[in-house]
Amino acid sequence: TRFANRKIRTDFVEQLTLDAMAVYSSLQPPADDHAMRQALHERLQTLVASVAPNATLLQFGSSVSGLASKGADLDLTLMPTDPKHQNEALPIEEQAQLVELIAKVMEDSGQMAEVHARPKARVPIVALKDSITGLKCDICMCNQLAVLNSRLLRCYMQLDPRAKPLAFCVKHWAKRRSVNDPYHGSPSSYAWVLLVIHYLQTTSPPILPVLQDLFSHAVPYADAGLVRTPDGREFDCYFYDDVERLRAAMGALPANPASLGQLLIGFFRRYAREFDFVKSVTSIRTGAFLTKHAKNWDKKEAGFRGDRHLFCMEDPFELTHDLGRVMDLPAAAWLRTALKAQSRRK
Ligand code: CTP
Ligand code: MG
Repeated sequence: TRFANRKIRTDFVEQLTLDAMAVYSSLQPPADDHAMRQALHERLQTLVASVAPNATLLQFGSSVSGLASKGADLDLTLMPTDPKHQNEALPIEEQAQLVELIAKVMEDSGQMAEVHARPKARVPIVALKDSITGLKCDICMCNQLAVLNSRLLRCYMQLDPRAKPLAFCVKHWAKRRSVNDPYHGSPSSYAWVLLVIHYLQTTSPPILPVLQDLFSHAVPYADAGLVRTPDGREFDCYFYDDVERLRAAMGALPANPASLGQLLIGFFRRYAREFDFVKSVTSIRTGAFLTKHAKNWDKKEAGFRGDRHLFCMEDPFELTHDLGRVMDLPAAAWLRTALKAQSRRK
């Protein structure tokens, strides 16, 4: 019976791999999706040029990372066109004014089904719905960190053929279980993808490398991706991005032959049973587990939702940002129940 059980299990995992690949395929956008997004991007750029002639709209989010499923929104940010000015701070009042101006231009264009200006939000944005494509689009101001972290995600997704299907399946699972909404106390899609990358960095042997660590010592600091955000803070956004060279070099490392099915089971087991929610922090910057103590996230603070740090995930560039801080106690308990149920269901 031991052999029989092993056979059942092998069949099950193989079937899971096939099912996961089928889900991945079913989520893919249609073939003309990319061209449609580029065309919308160009139309919006032309409209924005009339109020911000020295600025360019850049894409970020899933359109850049390669993780957009059917009908995903288009995330755009307005950046100074001249790279020399990209690190210059733009005061929040000016961001708010720009948001109002852009919203007006979009309304006057007659091309949008919906336009909402949110100049007073913590991150001022214009939210749009395009009439022609039906796509939704958010335009924010000077969010260079998001542009860079989306490119970081894209590099990781290109490094191993299992990364994208795994990330799609986990994002899809989180959406179906309604645990991917920071406004209601669960991790963002972005945070789920960071968890997937971290898991793939910490399998044995590792499936993904640590791009922020590779050759960082060989790059003079001035050339490394030093970024200043609109509030004047500075971030080291260096990461190794020569995917082709790295893929070639990775061929020489010990291979991890795990199938997609095995990785899915492993991912849910990690957060159902193995991860130490009390003490640990996931960090794709280091490809390791950090401690809450070292990050100073072990004390209750008087900040956002009590800053309880119940499920700690370090942002790769904004190191003081715990992407799990959106969770309060009931939300974290609910999420852990969903993870455990999934892991048992296998
Ligand atoms: N982002 C961020 N910090 C966060 C949340 C999001 O920097 N706390 C940025 C990231 O660059 C991310 C982008 O915003 O890639 C979009 O986030 P999100 O909507 O969570 O991810 P998508 O992959 O775009 O999800 P979807 O396909 O569902 O739109
Ligand atoms: Mg998005």
